[in-house]
Amino acid sequence: MHKERIRLARLLDKVMPAEAAAELIRDGMTVGMSGFTRAGDCKAVPEALARRAAKEPLRITLMTGASLGNDTDKILAEANVLARRLPFQVDATLRRKINAGEVMFIDQHLSETVEQLRGQQIAPVDVAVVEAVAITETGGIVPTTSVGNSASFAMLAKQVIVEINLNMPAGLEGLHDIYLPTPRPYRQPIPLIAAEQRIGLPYIPLDPAKIAAIVITQKDDSPSNALPPDQETRQIAGHLNDFLLHEVRAGRLAPSLQPLQAGIGTIANAVLHGLVDSPFRDLKMYSEVLQDSTIELLDAGRLSFASASSVTLTSAVYARFLADLERYKSRVILRPQEISNHPEILRRLGLITINTALECDIYGNVNSTHVGGTHMMNGIGGSGDFARNAHISVFVTKSVAKAGAISSIVPMVSHVDHTEHDVDVIVTEHGLADLRGLAPRERAQQIIANCADPLYRDLLGDYVTRATRRGGHTPHLIEEALAWHARFREEGTMGGTGPILAAA
Ligand code: COA
Repeated sequence: MHKERIRLARLLDKVMPAEAAAELIRDGMTVGMSGFTRAGDCKAVPEALARRAAKEPLRITLMTGASLGNDTDKILAEANVLARRLPFQVDATLRRKINAGEVMFIDQHLSETVEQLRGQQIAPVDVAVVEAVAITETGGIVPTTSVGNSASFAMLAKQVIVEINLNMPAGLEGLHDIYLPTPRPYRQPIPLIAAEQRIGLPYIPLDPAKIAAIVITQKDDSPSNALPPDQETRQIAGHLNDFLLHEVRAGRLAPSLQPLQAGIGTIANAVLHGLVDSPFRDLKMYSEVLQDSTIELLDAGRLSFASASSVTLTSAVYARFLADLERYKSRVILRPQEISNHPEILRRLGLITINTALECDIYGNVNSTHVGGTHMMNGIGGSGDFARNAHISVFVTKSVAKAGAISSIVPMVSHVDHTEHDVDVIVTEHGLADLRGLAPRERAQQIIANCADPLYRDLLGDYVTRATRRGGHTPHLIEEALAWHARFREEGTMGGTGPILAAA
């Protein structure tokens, strides 16, 4: 069956077991692998690398599009294969190794990795490993459920290993649109002015001589682990819907809104799901990952088109999507992450972006990555690409974490991913703070009154009152600003004045 998938016959003799292909990767090399938010990742070569590392020294720099599935980061981290890792991850074992200083993790805006590669600012890719549905008659690679950085990795690498995954339906061909920006300086404008536009090829163009090995696999992507909506995420979605409706009534947005982006994870997925119950029609998405909520919105007739770099779905929705590809294919495009996240395009399209915060401060700065200011959670991902260039940049979070022991609204964030300048709206289950056109002192009033949990509202109000007496454009009690985080570390609570909630 794999013969039908390798349409350039002279490449058939490159088919080999994963162990043999993995021999191309040697100690100290930089490897670029496909995979974006658990979708379209390589399934066999990474495991072969981990097995080999048990017998001989093998440490590599691993670049991907974003996070991997199939426990690949766990397996590679446990086998000590990862010396450096970029630009994003979501794995608990790798996270532990990063926070122990055993793996050097470079947390990057997802649009930037390949710009740095092209500019020779980071180590060049020695070997690219890319999952594919097929190889075309000209040696082009047809990706699977993500594009991520695969096109640039393959084109910039010295050698390419292709994993042909027979579990991926051949019908995926035609879903992708591969376009890469021209070199800098004097780059041509990227000719994309609408979410549904195609500007490239349906495959990654490649000199077939670079394909050094082909491995046949038969393994599914890992399902999304986003949890279904709960009461709080439904409330967050309700506040956001009311806000958007208000914008439509005020004539600032059309009833079809403007293209939507939603971040990874349970909260963003649930908030987008809330649009199923909204009055908006003919919505479009220009995002980096399509989660279950996108498919629900397409099926409910709310969404007319979705553009992204990957599809990451729970098992049942994944099966539904793959079984009915022809129907979805006319309304979905997968692009390289450089294009899905490109600042030039995001500014042009005027996106409404919805990303998730771990914590926000009273002035609107957002921490999306560092627990307690020091420990990496996942990474900034594409949230910075989108938030800075949005038409309206929304951040969502539950008002408390760990059953109320942590307030997600704090005097000062312990790490800054998104500065106050990139945050227009903050939403929690309690309400929404519209920060547009407000000075820091006004922002604090809005955020505390509308978004903070009652457990912490008085404490935050007291902090602002005392800080304001000292003056300043952005009043703070510098010696106290991070005391809430220190208290949580020492006492297990930030000290909310009220009963701690029932265990979550
Ligand atoms: N301090 C410590 N832990 C916190 C916290 C805080 N202020 N706020 C939330 N958490 C914990 C939660 O308790 C939960 O822990 P658990 O896994 O042990 O239950 C965990 O963080 C995840 O939170 P959850 O409420 O389930 O949200 P989520 O699945 O939507 O993830 C982020 C939230 C911020 C971690 C996730 O969205 C992310 O990594 N974002 C950064 C990258 C990004 O935005 N990419 C998208 C661009 S397209």
